[in-house]
Amino acid sequence: MNSIKEISRPTTLQSSFMKDVKLGLTSFPKYLPSKYFYDKKGDELFRKIMELPEYYLTRAEFEILKNYAEEIMGIMSKNEAFRLVELGAGDGMKTKVLLKFLLRAGYDFTYVPIDISKNALDLLQEDIRDEFPSLRIETVQGEYLDALSRSLFKDDQSSFVLFLGSSIGNFSIDETEQFFNELYKTLKPGDYLLTGWDLQKNPHIILDAYNDSQGVTRDFNLNLLRRINKDLEANFDLSNFSHYPVYDPEMGLAKSYLVANSAATYRIEDLEMTVDFEAGEAIFMEISRKYTLDDIFNIADISGFRHANYWQDKKSYFIDTLWRRT
Ligand code: AVJ
Repeated sequence: MNSIKEISRPTTLQSSFMKDVKLGLTSFPKYLPSKYFYDKKGDELFRKIMELPEYYLTRAEFEILKNYAEEIMGIMSKNEAFRLVELGAGDGMKTKVLLKFLLRAGYDFTYVPIDISKNALDLLQEDIRDEFPSLRIETVQGEYLDALSRSLFKDDQSSFVLFLGSSIGNFSIDETEQFFNELYKTLKPGDYLLTGWDLQKNPHIILDAYNDSQGVTRDFNLNLLRRINKDLEANFDLSNFSHYPVYDPEMGLAKSYLVANSAATYRIEDLEMTVDFEAGEAIFMEISRKYTLDDIFNIADISGFRHANYWQDKKSYFIDTLWRRT
């Protein structure tokens, strides 16, 4: 029997969306937070991105999890129940490799996928129900740390936390430090954290991953303007914006912008505001940081987590690190 328990969404999501859109579009330079990419359409576009020939990240991490599932999970005991928590689970495609291994090997665990997208969680739950009917699953909708603290400490089970896909790359340096500090405080001594990081490599390869030839990444960015049109009664003309991705190999920073091709004014009804664009003005949409091994070890050091192990794909494009909460 499949035991499913849902923890309901906080009611603040729409109001923080309104607040953040207002702040971002009244700032100079303008920006919009990439965490809002993931509505129903955005989830669908991101699933397409993961299959693009240029988007190597998902395949590289899939290779790691497939090759090393036993080694990665072998650190957990089969005799003690634990939670396998996943921050930003999305479609769970990569995670299934681990789930399959854990179930076959007879581990006693509950899968706790956390995601900002209710739609993604619903699809994932359906999918898991079909493929792994005996798996205990407890979905939690919300932002990473908020949802995590709501879902833990109902009992004293230990946690193995997955933070895959280089989602960490969407954070600024300050946000990264703050995120791991808070995660450290939320977890218990002995808990584990498996994090996926996209490594620095030939800049052409990286830029292509965010500038695919089919224009899916462009649509993924434009979709946030479409979402604002739909959810906040706005009238952005999507055809007036072009996708402008850049990669700075010195800093290891991939960034994407939407550029207004011509001067225009748009109205956002629900925010009772208008937004003016000059011709060529950009909205900063997303940062996807790329790391060196040194960057990663430094982050482990300042976060308080103890480095336990790491695994890479054959091309060394990507790395998964295992840290222990001391
Ligand atoms: C889901 C944040 C890992 O930054 O590579 C993919 C999102 N943006 N293409 C990334 C994304 C454009 C992705 N993450």
